[in-house]
Amino acid sequence: MSNYHIKNLEEYFQVYRKSVRNPELFWEEIAEEHFMWRKKWDKVLQWDFSKPEVKWFNGGKLNITENCIDRHLHTRGDKTAILFEPNTPNEGAQHITYKQLHERVCRFANVLKEQGVNKGDRVCIYLPMIPELAISVLACARIGAIHSVVFAGFSAQALATRINDSDCKMVITSDGSYRGAKTIDLKGIVDDALEHCSCVDTVLVAKRIQSDVNMKEGRDHWLQPLLDEAYIDFPPEVMDAEDPLFILYTSGSTGQPKGMVHSTAGYMIYSAYTFKNVFQYKEEDVYWCTADIGWITGHSYIVYGPLANGATTVMFEGVPSYPDFGRFWEIVEKHKITQFYTAPTAIRALAKEGVSHLEKYDLSSLKVLGTVGEPINEEAWHWYDDNVGKKKAPIVDTWWQTETGGIMITPIPFATPTKPTYATLPFPGIQPALMDGNGNEINGNQVDGRLCVKFPWPSMARTIWGNHQRYKDTYFSAFEKMYFTGDGALRDEVGYYRITGRVDDVIIVSGHNLGTAPIEDAINEHPAVAESAIVGFPHDIKGNALYGYVTLKDTGEGRNHDNLRKEINQIITEQIGPIAKLDTIQFTNGLPKTRSGKIMRRILRKIAHKDADNLGDISTLLNPEVVQDIKDNAM
Ligand code: PRX
Repeated sequence: MSNYHIKNLEEYFQVYRKSVRNPELFWEEIAEEHFMWRKKWDKVLQWDFSKPEVKWFNGGKLNITENCIDRHLHTRGDKTAILFEPNTPNEGAQHITYKQLHERVCRFANVLKEQGVNKGDRVCIYLPMIPELAISVLACARIGAIHSVVFAGFSAQALATRINDSDCKMVITSDGSYRGAKTIDLKGIVDDALEHCSCVDTVLVAKRIQSDVNMKEGRDHWLQPLLDEAYIDFPPEVMDAEDPLFILYTSGSTGQPKGMVHSTAGYMIYSAYTFKNVFQYKEEDVYWCTADIGWITGHSYIVYGPLANGATTVMFEGVPSYPDFGRFWEIVEKHKITQFYTAPTAIRALAKEGVSHLEKYDLSSLKVLGTVGEPINEEAWHWYDDNVGKKKAPIVDTWWQTETGGIMITPIPFATPTKPTYATLPFPGIQPALMDGNGNEINGNQVDGRLCVKFPWPSMARTIWGNHQRYKDTYFSAFEKMYFTGDGALRDEVGYYRITGRVDDVIIVSGHNLGTAPIEDAINEHPAVAESAIVGFPHDIKGNALYGYVTLKDTGEGRNHDNLRKEINQIITEQIGPIAKLDTIQFTNGLPKTRSGKIMRRILRKIAHKDADNLGDISTLLNPEVVQDIKDNAM
């Protein structure tokens, strides 16, 4: 018997030990007992981190949508699969049952096929949080096309880069989107992006805001009429366990985003198994994750993980502040939400508005609260625990990444005692390691180091699309035979992990990963800019905000600095999106550099953190004189 459902701490330790002692047997039992296969695998695991190569259930055949939809039809056909809560409350929620989801996914799959999309083709999905988003993701998976969802807050340029990188032949979008009281012209953004993409020959457009949009003859089609005509069934394409299921882009420390490639079977099993346990999901529960499907949290814990368990998963189109800051709690009361999974930045923003918004609503249905995306500070943790969970709903602080596909370090609610700001213990199958600067593993407790993982787990990304060397260099080169996460962590006296933050050039702003390099590249495109460097600094709500040090060319001098600041943020908005705008821009005469010409970010970080008295020895710099100037003019 596999331990698919862990109910207490003793069981957790027992299951964890088993998962480490014999990982292949452990995962094989879970795969066999809880999923539908068209053909059994030949080998559970093949791996070599030095290549790196990882294959789970190789030779096995399946379709993930058969596991997420078809197999529930007999027992849960009339159960709500997706509960759609729109931007505006009085539009009313939509309940999509498993039967209806099956029909809608099949129709969509037929449309994709008719439009010439085949197994292995890449489809870019650029949609707001409306049912078509989940349905198009599943329709791609149904026909074996590889979906690449791009968060619909990215700019046209960022979208074009992602479309081109994976050579997508189709884009699925909508006429526009709602965001609180505003609307956004998504189709216009797609049109701008496609000026730079020759690979796309078809655009399918869902109607959401009923706006007038340009439809390019021969390329653009309204989605609904095609769906109306499509047949209501579509036999799932039989996929290999290791066939790519999707690509999802994440920022790195160099300019080009990394298209993380996730496989079919391993991803399915891990997202489903973690969902079941981390949220202690039970049949009657109504689970809500507030993330966007444009991020990995939405892929794994709005779509695949919940549906693989036959769950009811809420999709919320709106924002926490519209029509007012009580919106989340109104939804919790209305749908009697049992599990609520959100990000620290949202918790901080809501906490700032005070408890009066919460007090109006009955939150007693909540059993488990989750947090993800960045370290949660102690104050936010307690606010969540006291006011939302009323100290009765355990908080699962779940640490994981786009690259890991599923939750890696987390409490199991009602089993693992929680500790504020600690993600606590590794999930079964996960073997973390803390490494020192010399590449050695640090054993024992009460230690800190760089967080690595020693052994493969089923949902790890298999490569970076089109660039396996970069995958190796980024994740498998810093420490021998280890997956390096890019995060620092400490392990306390009982073995609990606390994630301390990124140790590379990625900054997490409002839960979004932002690489410094692409932002600096954008700034440097301003004709007056000579060079720039970005660092993060603490921010009450966003967690981190961005501080830019910008050196101007001669021609820039004498120009109005406030205008330049606006222009720089405008370029960033165009190239990346508004999420990457800088809070502070300081113009400098130069940037501190090592003798080999590398920017000393450590110094810039300290100045931005208002800790400029502790800069350490700066005499070895190439240009120590600029430091005083930067300190004197710090903002
Ligand atoms: O630094 C860690 C932070 O978010 C990074 C991964 O970001 P992304 O790929 O966008 O995925 C976010 C959603 C899974 C990690 O390297 N992070 C994520 N969760 C936590 C966290 N930091 C601290 N505590 C967490 N619970």
